[in-house]
Amino acid sequence: MYDTIRPVIWKDGALQLLDQRLLPQREEYMLYHQPEAVATAIREMVVRGAPAIGISAAYGVVLSAKRAVEQGRNHWRLQVEEDICHLAQARPTAVNLNWALAEMGRVMAEVEADSDPVSLLLQRAQQIHEDDIANNHLMGRMGAALIARGSGAVLTHCNAGALATGGYGTALGVIRSAYAEQRIERVFADETRPWLQGARLTAWELVHDRIPVTLIAEGAAARLMQQGEVSWVVVGSDRIAANGDVANKIGTCGVAILARHYGVKMMVVAPTSTVDMALTSGDEIPIEERSGEELLNSFGTRVAAKGCQAWNPVFDITPASLVDVIVTERGVVEAPNAEKMAAMMASN
Ligand code: MRU
Repeated sequence: MYDTIRPVIWKDGALQLLDQRLLPQREEYMLYHQPEAVATAIREMVVRGAPAIGISAAYGVVLSAKRAVEQGRNHWRLQVEEDICHLAQARPTAVNLNWALAEMGRVMAEVEADSDPVSLLLQRAQQIHEDDIANNHLMGRMGAALIARGSGAVLTHCNAGALATGGYGTALGVIRSAYAEQRIERVFADETRPWLQGARLTAWELVHDRIPVTLIAEGAAARLMQQGEVSWVVVGSDRIAANGDVANKIGTCGVAILARHYGVKMMVVAPTSTVDMALTSGDEIPIEERSGEELLNSFGTRVAAKGCQAWNPVFDITPASLVDVIVTERGVVEAPNAEKMAAMMASN
């Protein structure tokens, strides 16, 4: 009942992406045959959310190999490598994109000279996709177990749901499991400016699954916590550094500061494909800055005073010290630090 949404579908040799720019008004899938178009779809937010971006890029590599082989190119590897570089540049913050492309690169390196790369690459892309959904169910159970029965409500920021992953979701996976186990009764969703992932996507998913959801303006989070309405903040991540610092949608750090002030616990839910052990701290995580037009206008209508400028960083870094727990498919890290993260990553 809680796992029916699929934003990324591979069917009949092509990629289908649920156009998340149109939700919740319209549910339409776009069809992709070319890797360049997949890169554009990622950049333009047809598909968004760290794991969903990685999965889509993996299928983009399959499309690249398919085209190269169909065109009878002897140098299919060179062509696919070029397309991998192009896909990698689509968005900078979510490391799942680089992770999935590196996985596809590894498979490519193993393809023997006279064999067909497409089926091997497709197998790996589908495995990445299936593993992601399975990991979300696992993290859902582990994260939910941390939430005491009778906890009332939780707050989430942005959309770390089925739409942001292969299915089920990371933060929303925990929330779905916690609701199914009657640990929580309600979810508060931050609207999440400027793309309104909370209002458009998280609310849509939770209404779809009949989980009670209440939308709040970003600035209402302090009031909500002050009134003792929520016991946990549950969010996803785009990249976690080796010391446990967390990059996530802009606004997450502010929510974490509020949570610590008001004694609300902060849970980050992300697969290990989101963990970047090559970066010692969050200071090294590249933060995407998008066009100021996204702030000056709201879905095609100018809202800001003419002549003003806008600054639009779309992710921020929550220091590990403000995170109570990180949940991955390999286990739960409480009060994360470099040592505990390394131990978790080394475990199976
Ligand atoms: O800009 P977006 O919508 O791609 O940002 C998405 C987020 O910040 C999510 O919280 C994050 O990717 C985790 S998704 C499981």
